[in-house]
Amino acid sequence: MSNSIGVGLIGFGTVGSGVVELLQDAPSSMRRRKHIDFSLQRIAVRDLKKSRGTSIDPALLTADAEEVVADPTVQLVVELTGADGAFDWVSEALRQGKDVVTANKAMLAERGEELFELALANGADLMFEASVAAGIPIIRSLRNGLVANRVESLYGILNGTTNYILSRMSRGEGDYADILKDAQDKGYAESDPTMDVSGMDAAQKLAILCRIAFHSTGTGSDVFCEGIERIEKSDIEYARELGYVIKLLAIAKQQNGRVEARVHSAMVPVDSLLANIHDEFNAIQVQGSAVGPQVFSGRGAGQMPTASAVVADMVELLERRVAGAGTAIGDMVLGEEAVAITSVEAVEMRYFLRALVSDQPGVLERIARILSEEKISIASVLQKERDLHGGSVPLVIVTHEASEAAMQRALAQISTLDTVQGAVKLIRMEDL
Ligand SMILES: NC(=O)c1ccc[n+]([C@@H]2O[C@H](COP(=O)([O-])OP(=O)(O)OC[C@H]3O[C@@H](n4cnc5c(N)ncnc54)[C@H](OP(=O)(O)O)[C@@H]3O)[C@@H](O)[C@H]2O)c1
Repeated sequence: MSNSIGVGLIGFGTVGSGVVELLQDAPSSMRRRKHIDFSLQRIAVRDLKKSRGTSIDPALLTADAEEVVADPTVQLVVELTGADGAFDWVSEALRQGKDVVTANKAMLAERGEELFELALANGADLMFEASVAAGIPIIRSLRNGLVANRVESLYGILNGTTNYILSRMSRGEGDYADILKDAQDKGYAESDPTMDVSGMDAAQKLAILCRIAFHSTGTGSDVFCEGIERIEKSDIEYARELGYVIKLLAIAKQQNGRVEARVHSAMVPVDSLLANIHDEFNAIQVQGSAVGPQVFSGRGAGQMPTASAVVADMVELLERRVAGAGTAIGDMVLGEEAVAITSVEAVEMRYFLRALVSDQPGVLERIARILSEEKISIASVLQKERDLHGGSVPLVIVTHEASEAAMQRALAQISTLDTVQGAVKLIRMEDL
């Protein structure tokens, strides 16, 4: 029996062409596995007239993705478009019992449940390593290497664009708007950067990881999410003074049967591993019950890192098929074990608060009273005469652990004080 598997590629852009390159010029690690033989049968693109500049047979190309799915010589569909039709193409492939590999995090985070159930019902597999942190094998590690662990927490830097912007701000290379513009000019940030800077991209990736690590059914929209748009140079400077660095963190924890999941900018200790993940790099710190802490880091996007993860999934699928091992998707369908993501309101954290206040006696006392009424205790206060802005001074307060709900109630009250100018800035703190 031949071990060759017919592959249908939907999408031949950045990642798709990287996958074809890896298949055409496979490293010895793949060539040594004699049973691996992928046969590229069809490739769907949007625009047939576009020059492709690679050595593929133009006869393989079609502008109809459904044709790829329906092709009887295709047993494995690789979806790499991110297009609106992706869900329908992937569902149809699974319905026909064809295995699917995808890098489409939005589709998995928002509608993964339907796809996993469809795969299971039709004896097909759905693999998606490239959807989170691209070439870092975090999904495979959680599903396989760490399977004997109860995952206690996950802390991730899951978005390269925001880490690049914050890293450059920390090096004093400009403020948020300038660096974002420069990143867009250089092609590091999308022309519409909303998904990245709002934290939503990281929230979708965290929802996928939470399903694997904590059996959570939450989608990207269930993850509490705040972006980096309001981080200013002075926040970075205060953080440094306190011994912290600001990162956009994706955090998930499992405690007492509850799963918390949130994405927001956070101050992390300057000597922590995640504080030292710079520029476009991603990292995930996992706390496992048996292994303790582990950190995975590397490039979280880009053509070849993403293609590397896609091809690893393809190889695993083929090897399972050759071994007659059946599908692996069962662990993604949660059934009775499903846990919802709890509201962030109950989560306890430490906070950094910064307000511009009138330079007069009693201001700190009034703020401290509001915090105390909400049972929030102050860890330290920083106030600098030198930063006087026409009769007002910045006041910085670091708190001990308090619930998000109590902090939000306190903030609402502090903001109404006539001695406080403008909005109070809040940054959460994580002592990793
Ligand atoms: N790039 C990364 O670093 C990265 C990292 C992780 C995950 N991903 C995910 O990987 C997927 C692909 O990303 P990419 O960067 O490779 O995108 P891309 O460069 O824009 O390529 C998209 C490909 O899909 C094709 N396509 C779009 N709509 C189509 C349609 N309706 N029918 C058939 N083909 C269609 C395009 O055709 P044309 O060539 O004719 O335009 C193109 O070949 C996305 O889900 C993305 O989120 C990307």
